[in-house]
Amino acid sequence: MLLAKARELVRSHVKSDNLLRHLLQVAQCMNYYANFFHQNNEEWVVTGLVHDLDYDTTKHTNPPDGHPYLGVSILKNNGFSDSIIEAVLGHADYTNVQRVTQLAKCLYAVDELSGFLNACSRVHPSRNFEDLTFDFVMKRFNEKSFSKGISRDVLLRGAEELEVDFRQHVENCINALRSDIWFWP
Ligand SMILES: [Fe+2]
Ligand SMILES: [Fe+2]
Repeated sequence: MLLAKARELVRSHVKSDNLLRHLLQVAQCMNYYANFFHQNNEEWVVTGLVHDLDYDTTKHTNPPDGHPYLGVSILKNNGFSDSIIEAVLGHADYTNVQRVTQLAKCLYAVDELSGFLNACSRVHPSRNFEDLTFDFVMKRFNEKSFSKGISRDVLLRGAEELEVDFRQHVENCINALRSDIWFWP
């Protein structure tokens, strides 16, 4: 039911293909880590799906109607749990909501990294995740001009908070991005 509700909210609030792709990719990574840490797949996938729910419709990042505050009020009105809401608030450093749970730490760790890996896949000769490797990703990581908007410090900090070695974290997320999107029919 939670997943059905999340899908419905994504369908009604997300306007752009880019945002939908991002949400699905983050959810793929969350699904992977739910298995990895033996957690509840539905809760973790849903957190990935809804974390940027309001991104297409918000114009700024201040409460109450900026990102992710507007999304959080939509989630509250739809009965989403405090743990999901805390994780969504925690994915944006500027909310100053601490990432306490593994769910929140994982969302933070996969949010920017999945975007970075998506950018890497686009410049890879094969244009897909199948042939993407850690070494290829690290070359792009060390190119300052590549995906300038993605802070390398945030990528490293995410893995550190999650207590997963950075190489393993990158490889986990590459594997995740190769997997089926079973949660989005
Ligand atoms: Fe966000
Ligand atoms: Fe995001």
